[in-house]
Amino acid sequence: MNYPMCDMQRVLIDTEELDAIISRLADQINRDYAPVPSRTTLILCVLKGSLFFTAALMQRLTVPAELDFVKVSSYGKGTESSGELIDHLFPQRNDWQSLDVLVVEDIIDSGNTLSRLTERIRALGAASVRVVTLLDKPSRRQVDFRADYTGREIPNAFVVGFGLDLAEQYRGLPFIGIPREDVIRAATEQASPQK
Ligand code: IMP
Ligand code: MG
Repeated sequence: MNYPMCDMQRVLIDTEELDAIISRLADQINRDYAPVPSRTTLILCVLKGSLFFTAALMQRLTVPAELDFVKVSSYGKGTESSGELIDHLFPQRNDWQSLDVLVVEDIIDSGNTLSRLTERIRALGAASVRVVTLLDKPSRRQVDFRADYTGREIPNAFVVGFGLDLAEQYRGLPFIGIPREDVIRAATEQASPQK
């Protein structure tokens, strides 16, 4: 078996199913986001993982929308910086009051990142803030957070592909896969080598 399939335990969501999920989400969004005068729909892609999902979703939208990018990380509970959201990239705009923001996320895990990010966008005065996520792992939640649109709930497994990475690899896979245990272990050890 060749790369990248040799590194996968199994395919969780194949390309055809991804396609159907994204079309369904786009239908829901197209129904909900009728154009409103003096308001702008802003698709806010959460980098890097949501790049592929955002592109596929936007191609199916029939409502006028702008595109912007955000790159944030959050420290989970138990670390010194608990509660903090770190911006690596944040849209510098002065028109938040007229924006209906649709945050596009690849996966919701603990819920920390999105609960802080949506709080932040609300505090900037956005007209509305909603979240669409391709995947959701509800069993991993640390804070109460629910997306407005969810592609598919998945069990507690580490997944890669369609934007999602393991140590920055596998983002380009056209499906969602579960890497083999030893592949995950090797990548994790490489990221934080034992001294
Ligand atoms: P959280 O909801 O704040 O815990 O963060 C979710 C972020 O963690 C996502 O945007 C992903 O970048 C990353 N993440 C969570 N679960 C996975 C996974 O199974 N594969 C790859 N990245 C993941
Ligand atoms: Mg992400």
